Amino acid sequence: MRADLLLHFDDEREAALRLAQACGLQTATVVRHHFPDGELRLQLPTPIPDRVVVLRTLDRPNEKLVELLLTAHTARSLGAKHLTLVAPYLAYMRQDTAFQPGEAISQRIVGRFLADLFDAVITVDPHLHRVATLEEAVPARQAVVLSGAPLLADLIALRRPGALLLGPDSESAQWVSQAARRHGGAYAVCAKRRQGDHAVDIELPDEPVAGRAVVLLDDVASTGHTLAQAAHLLRAAGAATVDVAVTHALFAGEAVRRLREAGVGEIWSTDCIAHPSNAVFMAEALARALDSLA
Ligand code: R5P
Repeated sequence: MRADLLLHFDDEREAALRLAQACGLQTATVVRHHFPDGELRLQLPTPIPDRVVVLRTLDRPNEKLVELLLTAHTARSLGAKHLTLVAPYLAYMRQDTAFQPGEAISQRIVGRFLADLFDAVITVDPHLHRVATLEEAVPARQAVVLSGAPLLADLIALRRPGALLLGPDSESAQWVSQAARRHGGAYAVCAKRRQGDHAVDIELPDEPVAGRAVVLLDDVASTGHTLAQAAHLLRAAGAATVDVAVTHALFAGEAVRRLREAGVGEIWSTDCIAHPSNAVFMAEALARALDSLA
């Protein structure tokens, strides 16, 4: 399926141009104005074709969700019949249950919100833990999941051939196993217990690490505490090098400094979220996913 237009926002121009080049789409910017009181005025290009793709990665998501609400409704009112959201990072996927009475199950609420706005949603490595498929979290007519792990695995194989791939927690097993299979390398997974936003306990696996190059691979780094704690233990256990590869470079606050202080060397990420660590680019994979939509 070829959409007719790729809509994007000014702060994602570079990613939009990479995607447009990969899938041969025309691009147009949704013009944003912030009123002095914080409200938004958006303006879409006219005319709007039948099929429209909206690129919006959902790090720092709160205002972006309002942008998507205004954009999708306006596109429909201007005649769009089919709307696809390409959200390389999909926010609010980690809160997938009520851990305390009264807690919002954000994954379900935000997923439903997006499914009501868009016919199709394409994303990369959404954090699905207690939920098996993206459709359960985002019940759009089509929900497509890509992974950054193969491209990160290729990069790691080039930059740290023979490295042990280590997942910092049980949820990362899916990505490290996939990445290790691709190049026939070894992998292992740590055990993690999160005590709070800024406190995690990590236990290294039995796999020996002394003298070895280790690459920590995960879907997302937020505060960096998970990877920093793992890196610290690996260094203490004698790992020769510890590098980090993540799909989603959220890197909130002092996360990068925290990783450096823990002994991390290289930090690599996909361009799902723009960050100086971006080392692999998802445009080709996203273009193939767009092509595969009905
Ligand atoms: C959660 O299980 C994720 O896979 C990441 O490990 C987690 O979100 C990282 O968070 P932080 O960087 O704040 O430790």
